[in-house]
Amino acid sequence: MGSRNVIIFGSQWGDEGKGKIVDWLTESVGGVVRFQGGHNAGHTLVIGGRKQVLRLIPSGMLRPDVICYIGNGVVVSPEALTKEIDELKASGVDPEPRLRVSGSCPLILPSHVALDQAREARRGNAKIGTTGRGIGPAYEDKVARRAVRVNDLRDPAGFRARVTDLMEYHNFLLTKYYGAEALDPNAVADEVLGYSDRILPMVHDVPALLAAAMARGENLLFEGAQGVLLDVDHGTYPFVTSSNCSAGAAAAGAGVGPGALHFVLGIVKAYTTRVGGGPFPTELSDAIGARLAEKGNEFGSVTGRPRRCGWIDAPALKRAIQLNGVGGLCITKLDVLDGLERVKLCVGYEVDGERVDLLPFGAEAVARCEPVYEEMPGWSENTFGLTDYDALPTNARRYIERISTLVGAPIDIVSTGPDRDQTILLRHPFA
Ligand code: IMP
Repeated sequence: MGSRNVIIFGSQWGDEGKGKIVDWLTESVGGVVRFQGGHNAGHTLVIGGRKQVLRLIPSGMLRPDVICYIGNGVVVSPEALTKEIDELKASGVDPEPRLRVSGSCPLILPSHVALDQAREARRGNAKIGTTGRGIGPAYEDKVARRAVRVNDLRDPAGFRARVTDLMEYHNFLLTKYYGAEALDPNAVADEVLGYSDRILPMVHDVPALLAAAMARGENLLFEGAQGVLLDVDHGTYPFVTSSNCSAGAAAAGAGVGPGALHFVLGIVKAYTTRVGGGPFPTELSDAIGARLAEKGNEFGSVTGRPRRCGWIDAPALKRAIQLNGVGGLCITKLDVLDGLERVKLCVGYEVDGERVDLLPFGAEAVARCEPVYEEMPGWSENTFGLTDYDALPTNARRYIERISTLVGAPIDIVSTGPDRDQTILLRHPFA
């Protein structure tokens, strides 16, 4: 049989619970591929009750035998990568033999982190609320064709010269524009080169390996990070991340042809969250928002920041489905809504007196959207950990089915808890 390849992406502002679903689906694949973002992502997995946060390493790593690929579209911090490897080793998983890193990945340097943080400080109240990991500045350097990349580590003298050149520019910005401290280029080169011996053995021609895996008939899972509303082109710009987080990025960011990608699974939280700045039409600043945050443990897995919480937003989901060619949805964290007397769904927006049913582009347009809600009765029963759709309370099923109707996409999976087994399967994406 030929290989079947599935893309998983976040259909809101990230933190939809993609990591758990990727890990769960990894049973059906030979490899998991990251294609954009960096260690701004935080994928929390719970296996047998034990929690593991992955940032840069694909969420397939916890299954023995699965190969994990970091594609060229990912920005790599050598420090973060080696730290994550060591954390995994400490918990009994050895990622090195199963990790394949593209030599074309741009490197995140300490000066990118300094620039990210200096820039946010200067923006004051208008700050993006970035994760402060240097993601944006690293992507800027990539597009400006001045990045240092993983393969450059192979030639230490050349690497040092490139870093020195690049840091002349970074230090100019840091000191003259942001009034921050300069960094010593030699110290930065030494620090990054210090990781070479650990990173270079994992560097491969990722597109060639993916082509070979597909030729062998292996299934692949392409793991998106962040969410489509944080996509640099389609999100709530400028309150976005610096990469394309939509499904279309999988081909370019991994080095496979679009024809090799067969199915797109959108992950949707049963409500909505956002971390960082930017407009959020269905945000709740009341006791219900606080309850969702508490029950859903809505704190950033990378930065620990509290996440903003609100009702589910159908016009935003419709946009996500349109932009990503979604074949099916997976609803996560349904149990967080257990016990609410009533639940609300945003079914459209009022914008300057007109009714709109699709999220507009850009922060300014989204900020003008006043949500229009539909109310449904909630359910008092516990859905946590259920594995059978028919065991769900009738009102919970009605809620899920209403979402499906409003957004025009089938619900294929319902996640009822963080553990692998706490999953209801209606249609398998690899079937
Ligand atoms: P950056 O990606 O660090 O530049 O941050 C840009 C925006 O994306 C900020 O609002 C971050 O909070 C948000 N962001 C980045 N990565 C994630 C993620 O994995 N989950 C949720 N939000 C994220």
